[in-house]
Amino acid sequence: MTRSFLRDDDLTPAEQAEVLDLAADLKAHPYDSKPLAGPRTVAMIFDKPTLRTQASFAAGIAELGGHPMLVDGTLAGIGKRESVADVARVLGRQAAQIVWRTYAQASLDEMAAYAGVPVVNALTDDFHPCQLLADLLTIRERKGELAGLTATFLGDGACNMGNSWLLAGATAGMHVRISGPSGYVPAPAMFDRAGEIGAATGGSGTAVADPRDAVAGADIVITDTWVSMGKEDEASERRAVFGPWSVTPDLVAAAKSDAMVLHCLPAYRGMEIAAEVLDGPRSVVWDEAENRRHAQKAILTWLEGRRS
Ligand code: NVA
Repeated sequence: MTRSFLRDDDLTPAEQAEVLDLAADLKAHPYDSKPLAGPRTVAMIFDKPTLRTQASFAAGIAELGGHPMLVDGTLAGIGKRESVADVARVLGRQAAQIVWRTYAQASLDEMAAYAGVPVVNALTDDFHPCQLLADLLTIRERKGELAGLTATFLGDGACNMGNSWLLAGATAGMHVRISGPSGYVPAPAMFDRAGEIGAATGGSGTAVADPRDAVAGADIVITDTWVSMGKEDEASERRAVFGPWSVTPDLVAAAKSDAMVLHCLPAYRGMEIAAEVLDGPRSVVWDEAENRRHAQKAILTWLEGRRS
């Protein structure tokens, strides 16, 4: 069966570990593996802004011997000028894989249902699974094992990154704590899913209201913008309530002394994270950004090996 990567729990725990091993190998030997030789084309579509995702996919696809084809989402008008299903049928005849950043998860699911080739989630309103592969790779590089580590996500837990941390962290056997203001935590179904996954891996996903309690003893502290793409109209009401969840030096001091700080970027210094933390010794954000390329090369390679 042709596989896609639409949400974090599309990979079983064993598959996630396999992809992370592959990512580490590709990072060590970036030009040795050419599964997209031909070159085979990978279509990339962005309906929301991008820097890291476009750059890391384009560079990674080229390193795999393939050709990154940027499809202008505005010109294509997916779901407006033409249905998602028809776009999927057309692009599936041109490209070996389709990478799409869009709003609704249901649209991505529809693309995967009709494309006939693997579809990769390059961020939706609900999930950002490629970022999680990069984050887990970054943590593994420093901590060795993922299972048993405690990771605390602070801020807008209801955004794609909060959901993805619950699912991917539980898949890796980690204990994920989410802390955000009332109304900004993941839906109960996300915690339920993390619990189901965690029953097999030893991981867990919990909501912790108080940010200091949430960070206490954590191995990893994660944050993200308080105003995700598409939520710009809510910027002032969000900024009014998120202050206590700002990742300050004082808050990081409650975590373990060797805790790592992650941020998927773009970062807003003085808002969700203090400049001293983002630019300080605990921060691994530049490795995290680089690891997008290695992790995405791994998932593209892995999917390429599983086409029907
Ligand atoms: N939650 C953020 C992630 C940016 C990479 C957003 O959706 O804008």
